[in-house]
Amino acid sequence: MSDPQIDPPVSPAGGSFAFYEDEHRLDQYLKHRHQQVTSPNLVMEDPAFMRVAGKLGGQRVLDLGCGDGTFATQCIEQGCDSYLGIDGASGMIERARVRCSDPRAQFAVVDMATFEPPQSGFDLVSSRLALHYLADLGPTLRAARRALAPDGRFIATVLHPVLTSGPTTSAGQRQTLEVDDYFSPGPRTREWFGEPVTWHHRTIENYLNDLQAAGFALTDLRECEPVEAQFAGNAEEYDRRRRVPLFLLLAAVTA
Ligand SMILES: C[S@@+](CC[C@H](N)C(=O)[O-])C[C@H]1O[C@@H](n2cnc3c(N)ncnc32)[C@H](O)[C@@H]1O
Repeated sequence: MSDPQIDPPVSPAGGSFAFYEDEHRLDQYLKHRHQQVTSPNLVMEDPAFMRVAGKLGGQRVLDLGCGDGTFATQCIEQGCDSYLGIDGASGMIERARVRCSDPRAQFAVVDMATFEPPQSGFDLVSSRLALHYLADLGPTLRAARRALAPDGRFIATVLHPVLTSGPTTSAGQRQTLEVDDYFSPGPRTREWFGEPVTWHHRTIENYLNDLQAAGFALTDLRECEPVEAQFAGNAEEYDRRRRVPLFLLLAAVTA
């Protein structure tokens, strides 16, 4: 694949990724993301995503809201043909370039709310835990569809709607979950790592309708049930993670 044509940075200040533009918050988030052996990303989201994605060898991957290059590394390790990760937060992209310096992986600072794919022909367009930052999924999903090869796949994970519905602010380890205003999609601002963050709540039905409106047909839906083998014998944490769904996975092909 030729170099992506979507650098230099086009992300506006204060986009939906603003939370990650602050160096201190970014460090806190990445510490949380990587340091716990039983981090929910590792024991719930990743096993579900990798199971549905299957073999990444030979694939041309476009990743929306790529973060610090963790998935880029997985793609490269599995022998993908190429990987292009876009993220609005320049600090994320800097870290991604450090984490994954293989020439098959390219990164660009781009707002996925308004991006235009540099080319079509991607076998996989992925987005892991990023779409719930967007107020309107339509333009991004339509761009993702344009980016795909005819038999390509779109796979996304988002925070589960039971988590994004309520106005919950949590301090320490939460023991209860408030599900409220479930059928009122829209922004929810809450505290995360001591700072306000805005996630956009949608029902499962809203996600399916948005995918359909963008020209996708759903092929898989998973709620990322924890995988016991990932908990390294920590039965208490496994039981805790079985209580509440945290992530929703949606996979689709072009209709
Ligand atoms: C929770 S992190 C997930 C990162 C990565 N996909 C992972 O699974 O580790 C969400 C990411 O979405 C990015 N993001 C949020 N809104 C965005 C936008 N409009 N355009 C591009 N990236 C965005 C953030 O900067 C952040 O890197």
